[in-house]
Amino acid sequence: MNPAIRTPRDEHRQMNTTAATTRIVLFGATTPSGDALLQQSLNDPSLELVVAGRRPQLNRPGVPFVPCDLRQPLQWPDPKGEGGETPQVWLSFAPIWELAPFLAALAAARPAALAAVRGVVACSSSSVITKRFATNSFDQALVRRLREAEELLERSCSALGLTNVVLAPTLIYGASGSYGDRNLSRLSRLMQRLPLLPVPALTGLRQPLHCSQLAAVTLSLARRLAAPSPSLQPPLPRQLAVGGDDTLSYGAMLERLRHTNGGGALLPLPPRLFYALAAPLLMLNPKQFEAVLRMGADLAGFTPAHQLLGGEPQPFPLLPLAR
Ligand SMILES: NC(=O)c1ccc[n+]([C@@H]2O[C@H](COP(=O)([O-])OP(=O)(O)OC[C@H]3O[C@@H](n4cnc5c(N)ncnc54)[C@H](OP(=O)(O)O)[C@@H]3O)[C@@H](O)[C@H]2O)c1
Repeated sequence: MNPAIRTPRDEHRQMNTTAATTRIVLFGATTPSGDALLQQSLNDPSLELVVAGRRPQLNRPGVPFVPCDLRQPLQWPDPKGEGGETPQVWLSFAPIWELAPFLAALAAARPAALAAVRGVVACSSSSVITKRFATNSFDQALVRRLREAEELLERSCSALGLTNVVLAPTLIYGASGSYGDRNLSRLSRLMQRLPLLPVPALTGLRQPLHCSQLAAVTLSLARRLAAPSPSLQPPLPRQLAVGGDDTLSYGAMLERLRHTNGGGALLPLPPRLFYALAAPLLMLNPKQFEAVLRMGADLAGFTPAHQLLGGEPQPFPLLPLAR
């Protein structure tokens, strides 16, 4: 085991663990999904969790921490010494455009550092699908960046013989520990400030995914990658666009948020009037204007989390929500 990531918890495990263990190296642990994954996996004796990031995770100080800036791949520690052979699965909730070049650089410069890695599950985004016909240059660049990173990760993993699953989650919401989303929570705060929030009377579909659901899906993939004979199992998808279990209109999603968190009423406006009123945004901020137009678009149809996890569908919103 690398001394840099050895803790009293490791000593304890070594004395008490008889089951085969897999080391889960978690990137992006300082996100709601990362925190939820740590929470869901801490009592599993077959998994050894290690957090790799620029700063320690606030809520789980007992989990071993490897300082890691994904922009500094050559500083990644070598897995020499006792325990260095423990099979690893890498999971990432960090931006895929940071993870993919990191892995590619490490594979090129120090492939031995990856010798114990069996597979990688990395988060991309459903934006790669939903924004592919965007007209503003910001979203076009985002789609390009996501796609190039997915392809680079795929190439690196296949050259290393690693199984690789790219998750493309949609609209992640909710809180875990002290980490909360920065999308639905913003809308919720806006509703709390305004007595009335104008929305188009007809809105498109959404499939919001709670951070705990994304964590559970990621963890179930990690467990499959860690299984003793993964080749005997059904092959894992290379790409998985995943959403929540409830498909509802954008307006209904806001209404349910308001019901849970409080706030002013929604003011449904005829869609053409609503978009006409938003038109000046086109000159000021084309990306924002296109985001307003997307309120009318159906951004759903992703695999619901419960189908991957085998449980009952969970209605929106799952708690806790970010404040
Ligand atoms: N939010 C959404 O609705 C949404 C939708 C679709 C897909 N996604 C994807 O889902 C994942 C989680 O999303 P999120 O919004 O919760 O988080 P995020 O803001 O996209 O990712 C932040 C995480 O990445 C880590 N990170 C960033 N740059 C790093 C670097 N150079 N070295 C090491 N770590 C680095 C951050 O660590 P630090 O603590 O060091 O900053 C933090 O843990 C991401 O992959 C995101 O692209 C998000």
